[in-house]
Amino acid sequence: METALPVDPSRLGSAAFRREHGVRYAYVAGAMYKGIGSKELVTRMGRAGLLGFLGTGGLPLDRVEADVRFLQATLGPAQPYGANFLSQGTDPALEERTVDLFLRGGVPCAEAAAFLQMTPALVRYRVTGLERRADGTVAAPHRVLAKVSRPEIARQFLSPPPGPILQSLRDAGKITAQEADLAASIPMAHDVCAEADSGGHTDQGVALVLVPSMMRLRDELQERFGYPDAPRIGAAGGLGTPEAVAAAFLLGADFVLTGSINQCTVEAGTSDRVKEMLQGADVQDTAIAPAGDLFEMGAKIQVLRKGVFFPARASKLYDLYRQHASWESVDAATRRQVESRYFGKTFEEVFAETRRYYEEALPEELRRAERSPRQKMALVFRWYFFQSNRWAMEGDPDRVVDYQVQCGPALGAFNRWVRGTPLEDWRARHVDDLAERLMCGAARVLSERLASFARDARGMAAS
Ligand SMILES: Cc1cc2nc3c(=O)[nH]c(=O)nc-3n(C[C@H](O)[C@H](O)[C@H](O)COP(=O)(O)O)c2cc1C
Repeated sequence: METALPVDPSRLGSAAFRREHGVRYAYVAGAMYKGIGSKELVTRMGRAGLLGFLGTGGLPLDRVEADVRFLQATLGPAQPYGANFLSQGTDPALEERTVDLFLRGGVPCAEAAAFLQMTPALVRYRVTGLERRADGTVAAPHRVLAKVSRPEIARQFLSPPPGPILQSLRDAGKITAQEADLAASIPMAHDVCAEADSGGHTDQGVALVLVPSMMRLRDELQERFGYPDAPRIGAAGGLGTPEAVAAAFLLGADFVLTGSINQCTVEAGTSDRVKEMLQGADVQDTAIAPAGDLFEMGAKIQVLRKGVFFPARASKLYDLYRQHASWESVDAATRRQVESRYFGKTFEEVFAETRRYYEEALPEELRRAERSPRQKMALVFRWYFFQSNRWAMEGDPDRVVDYQVQCGPALGAFNRWVRGTPLEDWRARHVDDLAERLMCGAARVLSERLASFARDARGMAAS
């Protein structure tokens, strides 16, 4: 009688990952902007001994600060949590203020995303508080988990903080001489997560390609820098079933990170209407659309397609922006359609609305728009992206077709997996329970596969 190999879910992935983050499983719930990755979601994970990241993107800093305080008051000192630290390419001051907040609030772990290069703020977070332990190794109180989809970015995170940035932080008195010296012996991030085709911003990478490539890169840089603890490589993107999680670990991932499936849980900070729509999504029900925050750069996001016009409308707006130098040069019929169907207002009314916001928040962007008709078009179109997100999160019943709901195909696979079980209903889905089921399911899949390989091998040997 064959027995399945007992693969233990709590031993999947890296032991060092579990030890350093103080977690039961090498499993992470990734951040989701504007508090969709809510304090309740992170608390639920932390209480279950699992790591979740607060979705700080797009939230005002006083809200982030309040949420961090909530987490610290609610979770015990041994219960894990972290917060998202998004690159703010054009606004380094915002990065600095975010790091001030993280250091003040004692945020132990930052999920760094959208970085194209290391910035002084990120380095300051990583390096502040470095100390040499009695055994000679370096203790780093601020952990960075970097999400990357390209090896050249991974290389920067797997390397020590850049010397010139350390020097300038030291010269400015922002870090001590000792911190700067010790920084040379640690990587920017001990955890680098290879993000394949995912919900939200995506380069649509392929996990089968990315994970082994990042692992080789890690080995190369580990050899070069000789860190006492080798950095770890994780996998994200497309993980919504036990089989997919098992495959990630079989590829060699040190940890796994999920996103889309967590948006369709009780704890996610979005509307019930969105969760209802997500619960009915299948694997083919997502689409790639332009991203509102990096609109002019042509960045892409993956969103829910079923039941909405958002991906088609967003793409149309992007095409108009690319093809026309001004709103006035767009043909009259298209202008009427965009104004009446997409905006529900005239172009100029939207501009007047955005003007009020930009006057306060980003006056130099407004000046640019006043000089350039094309830039004016971009500002107005970005209003649609902002609103479509708000309509979805608020569950506005009149704007359902315009909902922008970031989501990848992992959720469709998850929905199929739980079809016909109580978890078909999102009201029965809790983030920590999904983690438990996926990790135990992955262990079962691996046990069964390994047992079957062993059986086949014995069969061949006997024949
Ligand atoms: C609704 C939603 C919002 C997201 N927002 C962010 C974000 O603000 N910052 C971030 O680093 N990642 C964000 N992500 C990406 C997730 O943290 C995670 O990396 C990704 O969803 C994993 O791929 P999957 O969706 O295939 O599971 C978001 C994902 C979703 C679905």
